[in-house]
Amino acid sequence: MLNKRFHIKTMGCQMNEYDSDFLAQSLIQNGFSPEKDIHRADLILINTCVVRAKPEQKAYSFLGRMANLKETNPELVVGMIGCLAQMKGKELMKRFPLVDFVMGPRELGRILEIVKDIYDRRQRVVATGLSVAPPPPVKRTGYFRNQTSGFISIMEGCNNFCSYCIVPYVRGREYSRAPKDILDEARYLLSEGMREITLLGQNVNSYAWKDENTWNFASLLDAVTDLHDLHRLRFTTSHPKDLSEDLLACFRNMDKLAGHIHLPFQAGSNRILKLMHRGYTREEYLENIDKLRMSKDNIAITSDVMVGFPGETEEDFQFTLDLMQQVEFDSLFSFKYSDRDGTPAAKMPDKISEGVKVSRLKRLQTLQNSITLKKNRNLEGRQLTVLVEGTSKKGGQLTGRTGSNKVVNFDGNPGMVGTLVEVAIEAAYLNSLKGQVIEH
Ligand code: 5AD
Ligand code: SF4
Repeated sequence: MLNKRFHIKTMGCQMNEYDSDFLAQSLIQNGFSPEKDIHRADLILINTCVVRAKPEQKAYSFLGRMANLKETNPELVVGMIGCLAQMKGKELMKRFPLVDFVMGPRELGRILEIVKDIYDRRQRVVATGLSVAPPPPVKRTGYFRNQTSGFISIMEGCNNFCSYCIVPYVRGREYSRAPKDILDEARYLLSEGMREITLLGQNVNSYAWKDENTWNFASLLDAVTDLHDLHRLRFTTSHPKDLSEDLLACFRNMDKLAGHIHLPFQAGSNRILKLMHRGYTREEYLENIDKLRMSKDNIAITSDVMVGFPGETEEDFQFTLDLMQQVEFDSLFSFKYSDRDGTPAAKMPDKISEGVKVSRLKRLQTLQNSITLKKNRNLEGRQLTVLVEGTSKKGGQLTGRTGSNKVVNFDGNPGMVGTLVEVAIEAAYLNSLKGQVIEH
């Protein structure tokens, strides 16, 4: 299989980026080389997402556009990876003759075996087992992000079964990775020059492992922050119902733990939260916010929310806006609810019309933009510590992030990449800040 060129198209979440990185490294270590131009690739992998209807549609239209690639390259092998592959399996191959194999997120460890099988025997393969353990660690190079900041998956799957969510069905039940593997991977990233690590999982707070010690999420954070070259540790995503006193203590005591938490609230109305099976009330959510703010000065809080869940009334929606005004999130990912086949919410009555969803989403985003801008403007004149990630998209300047995960652009020299610098913030925009380095 030497001298083959591969191209990976990644859609969806950070977990998918991490999985694509795993695939890229497995292929590179076995003689494949990465290829940016899809038309020149011998192997194309499309890593997909199905958490909402929109990314699923995106994957279909991408496949549609690729339909005749095999006319110019009959040797081409195309694989669908990830959640869509898991959910649709064989059906995808029927609908898209171009696809040679489908492989779910729990089968990634079989990539070389499957690709080899297809090159040898030209048979289509469906690999969508859910009981398979996550793949073994490979050395990662941050192929899909930058050289300063890398991801490590600490757990797979989810046991929460929120009523709207497809994740537990396509990613399977929760499965924590051994602390030893996580720490080895962290040491490797640091030895490659990375200085920031983000621990990933659908629900990191329920991380659990038992060897000679009993591990929970807080003890894992403790072990990772002990690593010498690490400047900053992040994690995502947390579930509000599992926010523990232990984790609050981590924010109080661990200097390397970034002052940011992503804590999806999904809805502000108790009636809707109950229908969603979220396991907390708005009052409990607000209490968590107070505790977080007491544990860490200026902690940044970001969240996910959706509008138009079945049965959501204008009054329910007002509770969502009201919660946003009370909390003042630093930023917010907002979505229109979409039915996912097989979830309880898809069968619920009183679906909300597209027009109402669009209008609620717009009102919500207008409110959040004003909050985000106000919060960013409060940072003007302040001095913030920035981890430098590289050169900014517009070129010329350097770009990095604050502990609170805000993007900062400033003039500097490329030698600063991978270091912490102090930046005086001069101007604030909706999605970034601008400043001047005051100390290196
Ligand atoms: N419809 C709309 N948004 C959804 N999300 C999850 N499932 C759905 C759905 N069926 C959103 C949630 C979650 C984020 C990753 O995607 O807000 O936190
Ligand atoms: Fe989906 Fe809920 Fe699990 Fe998050 S916690 S992945 S929303 S089921």
